[in-house]
Amino acid sequence: MRILFIGDVVGSPGRDMVREYVSKLKDQFRPTVTIINGENAAGGKGITEKIYREFLEGGAQAVTLGNHAWDNREIFEFIEKAKYLVRPANFPEGVPGKGIAYLKINQDEVAVINLQGRTFLAPTDCPFKKADELIEEASKRTAIIFVDFHAEATSEKQAMGWYLDGRVTAVVGTHTHVQTGDDRILPKGTAYITDVGMTGPYDGILGVEKDAVLKRFLTSLPVRFEVDTEGRNQLSAVIVDVDKKTGTASKIQRIQINPDHPFYS
Ligand SMILES: [Fe+2]
Repeated sequence: MRILFIGDVVGSPGRDMVREYVSKLKDQFRPTVTIINGENAAGGKGITEKIYREFLEGGAQAVTLGNHAWDNREIFEFIEKAKYLVRPANFPEGVPGKGIAYLKINQDEVAVINLQGRTFLAPTDCPFKKADELIEEASKRTAIIFVDFHAEATSEKQAMGWYLDGRVTAVVGTHTHVQTGDDRILPKGTAYITDVGMTGPYDGILGVEKDAVLKRFLTSLPVRFEVDTEGRNQLSAVIVDVDKKTGTASKIQRIQINPDHPFYS
């Protein structure tokens, strides 16, 4: 089994890249499952029902979220019926949505878990304890468990990788929008990367129009941040090869598509 995971899709530039390249990546790599982090997909903040549906119709089987999950208020109208939309599982008890989804792929099942870090982000329940709980639940159904750990601190993401090594198929980091080069298979068979990187503007700063960010750094004045829709675009992803029986990963491969790393099929 092969899983394609697309890193944080930011605004219309990110959605354009998904539209343009997901089918090309599928033709080339033949993934069994495609998962997209869509927490910045609606103008950089949150997700709408239309975008969620477009991702599913465009070939994704699940969409994960993060700290911007609630930023577009429309989410409260559709999250309960969105079967394949996964928000951080360690949000406080009782909030809408769910932190785990099960994807039926032919005879197999893939559990997709979304967790959020607590370092330099708003307080949430413990992601490590929540991971224990959900892995115990998921392991009764399937050995294939994919974790999107949406976190700011590299240390917290590495800690989660080691904590879950041998218990899940993959721990992929999201949120920081810059792809890290530390993709590896941990000793007990879990694929790991600190951050998959971002899908969206290539010429902005973390997806935001760069002049506004520069103004903030240079003047400390309040500035409105907008998604950079003028520049060139990029797509960031990973592909994980999975042993279906054991749920362990045999390979993780980084993908970057941008003007400096063009896509050749
Ligand atoms: Fe985020």
